[in-house]
Amino acid sequence: MKTLRTQVGIVGAGPAGLLLARMLQLEGIEAIVVESRSRAEIEGTIRAGVLEQGTVDLLKAVGAGERMSREGFVHHGIELRFDGRSLRIDFPGLTGGKSVTVYPQHEVIKDLVKVRLDTGGAILFSVENTSVHDLDGPRPKIRFEHEGAPTEIECDYVAGCDGTHGICRPSVPPGVLNTFERVYPSGWFGILCDAPPSSRELIYALHERGFALVSTRSPTVQRMYFQCDPADKVDNWPEERIWAEFRARLATRDGWAPKEGPITHKVIVGMRSFVAEPMQYGRLFLAGDAAHIVPPTGAKGLNLAAADVTLLARALTAFYRTGDREPMQRYSATCLRRIWKAQRFSWWMTSMLHRFPGADAFQYRVQLAELEYLAASEAARRTLAENYVGLPLEGYPPRSIAEAG
Ligand code: FAD
Ligand code: DHB
Repeated sequence: MKTLRTQVGIVGAGPAGLLLARMLQLEGIEAIVVESRSRAEIEGTIRAGVLEQGTVDLLKAVGAGERMSREGFVHHGIELRFDGRSLRIDFPGLTGGKSVTVYPQHEVIKDLVKVRLDTGGAILFSVENTSVHDLDGPRPKIRFEHEGAPTEIECDYVAGCDGTHGICRPSVPPGVLNTFERVYPSGWFGILCDAPPSSRELIYALHERGFALVSTRSPTVQRMYFQCDPADKVDNWPEERIWAEFRARLATRDGWAPKEGPITHKVIVGMRSFVAEPMQYGRLFLAGDAAHIVPPTGAKGLNLAAADVTLLARALTAFYRTGDREPMQRYSATCLRRIWKAQRFSWWMTSMLHRFPGADAFQYRVQLAELEYLAASEAARRTLAENYVGLPLEGYPPRSIAEAG
């Protein structure tokens, strides 16, 4: 067996693993990242699009924000659409100047992979049969096969950044983790299409037929979603049927219609809220989707992953600099306070904007009343805005990292 040695072994090269590796590198802490997919696969997977102000600041601070600053779109608000009407939520006006940036997750991944490889950092792609061992002892290990060779990484700490289907969380012995879950009876049907933007800002719509979302990727490629049966198949949806659904759900009294174009990508994703507590076992720390999942309506998943690893990098830095283990001991509790607030917001946005099977007319009236209340109350709009742009994370990004950038 080939044996490698490092300070922090990171499982997963998603946003959590790659950001953590970069923050540690800037602090002079060694890490090796192992990833089960190829570089082309991780750089080609279409997922999130909305970056909170804090995530944007962090990417810039770690030297991975240059292309995002050029190619990303700063959005100063979103539109809520219901009952054929439009309600704008003005982010800077309601949050003291904050905004979000629309920049696709796979572009973030490309930027982080490039920074890591350009600066001599290790990412082992396409590893197989990953497992983690001796998590409760002083020398935890990650084992896998890489280019056919059985390999072991011996480290001080393991960061489980391997997403919701990873192996780190299931490696924690039974009885240690408490899990909290809610599965929603709907999914999102997502498309990419070749068309100009339909709107300057994202549109979140509630309609009797269900939720719809207009997002964007570039001046020529648009991202849109509508609520669907999670068991449905994309092949049941020819282009004309998809556009008819968007036209119906997004219609306004003054005749708004989305700009249509050839659909180049279709996917159905499930909707789930999930939290595992605590986010630590022995020398294993869980971060990002490995520890929690939010339904996509609040655009929080990637941003929570970035917040987790910021705290983890800070805790590991404190330990390696001064031997202080206290921030590591507080890691889980500190993360979870923010995570539960994001869970609440994501659940609330989801409940307000979807029509779930079995929900009655009373429920729909309550949802419309909630939207009417937002329209009438600046306090309500501010609550939405400050959650959407991202709740503050104390010391985010860490000062030393901000200085390095
Ligand atoms: P992941 O991105 O899942 O990365 C985990 C990595 O670990 C993967 O590359 C995986 O291949 C690797 N891995 C898994 N198992 C192993 C193993 N055994 N060994 C080695 N490697 C392994 N979030 C937002 O913030 N804003 C949005 O607008 C938004 N929209 C979304 C829209 C959709 C349709 C979806 C599906 C998600 C959306 N999200 C959004 C959520 C966001 O994509 C995730 O929360 C984010 O990817 C989490 O990052 P992560 O690094 O924790 O996990
Ligand atoms: C996108 C995804 C989301 O989950 C969301 O709430 C807004 C936009 C997107 O992929 O662009």
